[in-house]
Amino acid sequence: MPGIVLVGAQWGDEGKGKITDMLAEGVDMVVRYQGGSNAGHTVKVDNEEYILHLIPSGILYKDKICIIGDDVVVDPKTLIDEMDQLMARGVCLDNLRISGNAHLVMPYHKTLDKFEEELKGKHKLGTTGRGIGPAYVDKMARVGLRFNDLFDREEFIGRLGHTLKYKNLILREIFKHEGFETDVIAEEYLAYGDRLKKYVSDTSILIHNALREEKFVLFEGAQGTLLDVTHGTYPYVTSSHPVAGGACVGAGVGPTKISRVLGITKAYTTRVGEGPFPTEQINEVGELMRKKGGEYGATTGRPRRCGWLDALLLRYSARINGMSALAMTKLDVLDEFDTIKVCVGYKVGNEVISEFTTDFRKLRECTPVYEDLPGWKTDTSHVKDYRDLPEAAQNYVKYIERIIKTPISIISVGPRRAQTVILRKFV
Ligand code: GDP
Ligand code: IMO
Ligand code: MG
Repeated sequence: MPGIVLVGAQWGDEGKGKITDMLAEGVDMVVRYQGGSNAGHTVKVDNEEYILHLIPSGILYKDKICIIGDDVVVDPKTLIDEMDQLMARGVCLDNLRISGNAHLVMPYHKTLDKFEEELKGKHKLGTTGRGIGPAYVDKMARVGLRFNDLFDREEFIGRLGHTLKYKNLILREIFKHEGFETDVIAEEYLAYGDRLKKYVSDTSILIHNALREEKFVLFEGAQGTLLDVTHGTYPYVTSSHPVAGGACVGAGVGPTKISRVLGITKAYTTRVGEGPFPTEQINEVGELMRKKGGEYGATTGRPRRCGWLDALLLRYSARINGMSALAMTKLDVLDEFDTIKVCVGYKVGNEVISEFTTDFRKLRECTPVYEDLPGWKTDTSHVKDYRDLPEAAQNYVKYIERIIKTPISIISVGPRRAQTVILRKFV
């Protein structure tokens, strides 16, 4: 029953794509369980770089079944573009499967995402503009359309027409937009359905059967724990459940089928979009991290906000996800620093707190309390064995393990598969 969840431990972009691709070699199936094309997962193989938004990061291996699960919201046009680009580069998609329950991101979701952000003004979230929030809102409001609906023409047109009456009222009256025509969207989406039909199936059964046959299934989270709609820094979050528990609901497997949870953390912290970030460094430290780490969004190209590692946040993340172990990525990005800081407390008023809080007011107002650790000032990007890491880098890793109370199983020192140090066997 080796169901393994891989989850972002921070605010996304931790290197989930790289670690998924690396672990995928040893598993049979890779499943995306939530989110949509707001995700941008980078996989680098030799000199080829692939940025995956909807397709699981196991797709570069010919023999792995790759599933887009029930709780993913899929923009079919983006998916088709992603598929075409991969096929043009010689990637085989025969093993791709899409859940018939996956909701469709519709054109009005993307339009509403942009208008709602504008309307929020200074309270905006800095969304990716991919229509993710509005698509999940419709799912919960029970007016969403799913992949399976594409295969019943009458039903699809009828339900779309009904939803559009309401959406157009909002678009025209509030946002002064011209609105959308049912026929136009229906023809476009039904054509997507024709193209994608052969990939659509009951994915929960496929996963269940794989687990019953003792196959390894890797559940690939998108976004990160602190972007979870319930457990993240609300309201500055996404609209799904990136946490490990989300894999059960999102892929249709029971919790007893999950045997291990691997959290992915950077050796420092980044965040894209708005919201509190206590350890953010709006100075030369943050700039060096951004420059060395190439910290620009894989989906939107926006510069990522950068800062030191936050032990309170990581400990919280380990708890919420029931983490068995951590993979620490981008250790090489810290190679040039004299001193490396780790946040070990938040000073709120006169009080120092040592447990993370999701109260954004406290997060916004707190002053981080740091522990200083010596840097290693050595290039680590070629290291393959833990014993070859500079002593100060080993001490940094050991220190984080100790304060997070979670073993670090994998260290990543570069974007490529080979730039990985395995401390303990994970899969
Ligand atoms: P994801 O969304 O969690 O999959 O992460 P992204 O792909 O959005 O961002 C991670 C970025 O860091 C990508 O450009 C990766 O190629 C790169 N990356 C991953 N691991 C490492 C590493 O250990 N060192 C460096 N320097 N880059 C890395
Ligand atoms: P991966 O999977 C980093 C952020 C957005 C914004 C907030 C809400 O690559 O780690 P949304 O479009 O989801 O409604 O935006 O969430 N966000 C991400 N940040 N990595 C991601 O995905 C993200 N997906 C969404 O920047 O702050
Ligand atoms: Mg990303």
